[in-house]
Amino acid sequence: MTAPSGRKALSILKDWHPDVVLTDIKMPDIDGLTLLKEVKEFDPTISVIIMTGYATIEFAVRALKDGAYDFFEKPFEIKKITHAVSHCLERTRLLRENQRLHQKLKNHGEFHGLIGKSEKLAQALDLISRVADTDVTVLIRGESGTGKELAAQALHAMSSRAPHRMITVNCPALPEQILESELFGYMKGAFTGATRNKQGLFLAANGSTILLDEIADIPISVQTKLLRVLQEKEIRPLGQNQSIKIDVRVIASTNQDLETKIEKGLFREDLFYRLNVVTIEMPALREIPEDIPLIAQHFLNLYAAEYGRERMSFAKETLSHLINRQWKGNVRELQNVIKRSVLLTTGSTIFPRDIPSKHTDDNNCRLIPSMSHLSYKEAKQEILSIFSKTYISEALKACNGNVTAAATRCGLERQALQRLMRRYGLRSVDFRYPKE
Ligand SMILES: Nc1ncnc2c1ncn2[C@@H]1O[C@H](COP(=O)(O)OP(=O)(O)OP(=O)(O)O)[C@@H](O)[C@H]1O
Ligand SMILES: [Mg+2]
Repeated sequence: MTAPSGRKALSILKDWHPDVVLTDIKMPDIDGLTLLKEVKEFDPTISVIIMTGYATIEFAVRALKDGAYDFFEKPFEIKKITHAVSHCLERTRLLRENQRLHQKLKNHGEFHGLIGKSEKLAQALDLISRVADTDVTVLIRGESGTGKELAAQALHAMSSRAPHRMITVNCPALPEQILESELFGYMKGAFTGATRNKQGLFLAANGSTILLDEIADIPISVQTKLLRVLQEKEIRPLGQNQSIKIDVRVIASTNQDLETKIEKGLFREDLFYRLNVVTIEMPALREIPEDIPLIAQHFLNLYAAEYGRERMSFAKETLSHLINRQWKGNVRELQNVIKRSVLLTTGSTIFPRDIPSKHTDDNNCRLIPSMSHLSYKEAKQEILSIFSKTYISEALKACNGNVTAAATRCGLERQALQRLMRRYGLRSVDFRYPKE
C-alpha cells in the first residue's frame, strides 16, 4: 500500500496493520521521524525502514535510536531495499510470535511446553524469549527435573534457527574418546578403526543449535577443545589439517555446582565464562509452589486422555497435599507421580492417599509430613500411628524381635507392648535377625 503523506500513512496503518513500513523523511505534513514514533507506539513489532534524499549522519543516528530498522540514502539499489525488507519481515514475524506466546503464557500459563504462571518461572521464560533469537551462548542451570531441556528447546524454537533440528549431546553418557570424536568428527584413517569419515555433531548442527546437556561432566581435554570452538567458531575433525568455519548456537545445561568444580580444578574457568554469557536459572518446584496445581492438572489431563480415563479429577485436599509434599525430582517427579496415580487410582477422584509419599531413606525429609488436608483429629491419629510404628519397630529391631526385652527397653509392660504391636500390625518375627 502506498500513502501520499505521513498522516494518510497513519490512517492506513491502523486499518491495514502492515509488517513493514518504508518511509521518506521529508513529507508534506508529518515527517518521517514523527511517523516512525507513531508507528512504534501503535505496534512496536512493525519494522520501519527510512529512506531519504537528505541523509545526514545525525538523521540516521536519530532514526536508528528511535527504533528504525535501517536507513537508506537515495538513490539506492533496489536489491538492497528488498534484502532489508525480507529481514524486516522475519524480524516482525518473530516479534509477533513472541508476543503471541507471551500472551498465551499470561492466559494459560503455557510456553513451549513449560507450564507455570509464577513470578520466578515467568522471569526465566522472559529471559528465554529475550535471548532466544540472538547467537549468545546460554548456560541453563537448575536442579534435576526443573525443565532445563525444555528451556533449551524453547530457546531454539524461538530463534531463526528453528527450521533446523537442534542437536542434543548427552555429555555424561559418552566416554572421553568417543565424546571428542562425536563432537568434532574425524577423517578416514585418523586412527585405527576410523574406516570412514565421520561428521561431528558440531558440523551436523551447522546453521542450527547444539545443546551440550550436563556439561559439568565433560573431561578437561574435551573442555579445552570446546573452548577453542567457542572462541574461533571453527572445528577441526581429527586427522584433518584444515579447520572448518561453523555457525552454531551453543546452549549448555548443568545441575551441578560449576563454581565448586572450578575450585577443584575439574572445570575450566575460561570455558565457564564463555558458556555463561547469559545464565537462565530454572526454579526448583519448592520455589514455585503456586505453580504445582497448574502443572499437576496439566499432567492429569495429559495422562487421563492417554489412558482413556477422561473423567478423573483431583480431590481438593489432594492439591494442597501436592503443594506441601517434597519434590526432590522437581517437575519430573510430579509428572511421574500424577501418571502413576492416573494409572492406579480405581475411582475417578484422586485423593491424597493415592499419591505415593516420598521414600523414607531421605534424611532431609521433614519430621512431620504435611497434613493440613486432614482434620486435627485425623492428623493427630496419623502422627501418633507413624510415631508408634517407628518407635516400636526400632525397639524390636534392637532386641532381635524379643518382645520382653523390647518392653523393658521401652519402659512398658509386656502386655502393653503386645497390644500396641497388634494395633499397628507389627509382628516380632519380622524383627529377628535372619538365621545363618
Ligand atoms: N514447567 C514445566 N511444565 C511442564 N513440564 C515440565 C516443566 N518442567 C519440566 N517439565 C517436564 O519434566 C520433565 C523433565 O524436564 P527436563 O528434562 O527438561 O528437565 P531437566 O532439568 O533437563 O532435568 P535433568 O537435570 O534431570 O536432565 C520433562 O518430562 C518435562 O517435560
Ligand atoms: Mg536434562
